[in-house]
Amino acid sequence: MLNKARKLSLLWFQVLIFFCVFASVIIALSNTVIFNSGTDVSLSVRDVLSERIDDNQPDILQYNSFKTVQYLTPIPTPIQSTGGVKIINTREYIYYPLSKQNPIGNVQPNDLVELPKSYTTRKILVSQLIVSDLIKLIKAAKQDNLELRVVSGYRSFQEQQNLFSYYKAEEKKKNPSLDDMQIELLVNTYSAKPGYSEHHLGTVVDILSAENNYQFDSDPNLKYVQWLENNAYKYNFRISYYKGNPEYIYEPWHIRWWP
Ligand code: DAL
Ligand code: ZN
Repeated sequence: MLNKARKLSLLWFQVLIFFCVFASVIIALSNTVIFNSGTDVSLSVRDVLSERIDDNQPDILQYNSFKTVQYLTPIPTPIQSTGGVKIINTREYIYYPLSKQNPIGNVQPNDLVELPKSYTTRKILVSQLIVSDLIKLIKAAKQDNLELRVVSGYRSFQEQQNLFSYYKAEEKKKNPSLDDMQIELLVNTYSAKPGYSEHHLGTVVDILSAENNYQFDSDPNLKYVQWLENNAYKYNFRISYYKGNPEYIYEPWHIRWWP
């Protein structure tokens, strides 16, 4: 009888040992899975990095590579504040839904660079994020015998304020009978109020052509209008104010980086 009880407890002990070993194996396996998935993620980011290195543009690489990890930083947060101007991390605002109902305020992207003069008509600052694609776009247009230049890039709140006031004064001269409110409504069909412009993002440019001496003109017969309509998307830009958009007049020259 005693012998039988001893055998039974030995059996239970063996069962316990088996479960301990089994549990250890399961835990070890799950750790491996977690570790592997972590490795996979970093590998995919590295793959993108090496792809960019092949582009031979290491300075721009650092910034563009972030588009693979932007989903890790979903909440736009100011990184510092100086006198009223909020310095923003541009990567977090690439898809910011600016509209007449949703201003962005007085902001300055944290990665502004000056575009080389050969691509502009004057001193233009833009986010470093868009430089590579923008230059590719301008070079591609040149291949198609079109001379494009950037005429506007990042605009501060103050610059947009000056622009809006200038347009108001011009419209008042043309339409003296209109009151201030009517003038504002009129100007606001083609110019954003300060704090409401996509140009505050640094990822938007106005791009014009030598064919009409760099004038803002949306005539569909112009080559540059057709070219941008057909090709801007290939370089990760889209025309924000497409024909029939609900906010502003058609602006084929106003393109936003939308990778
Ligand atoms: N022209 C566009 C609407 C702007 O001022 O941002
Ligand atoms: Zn514009």
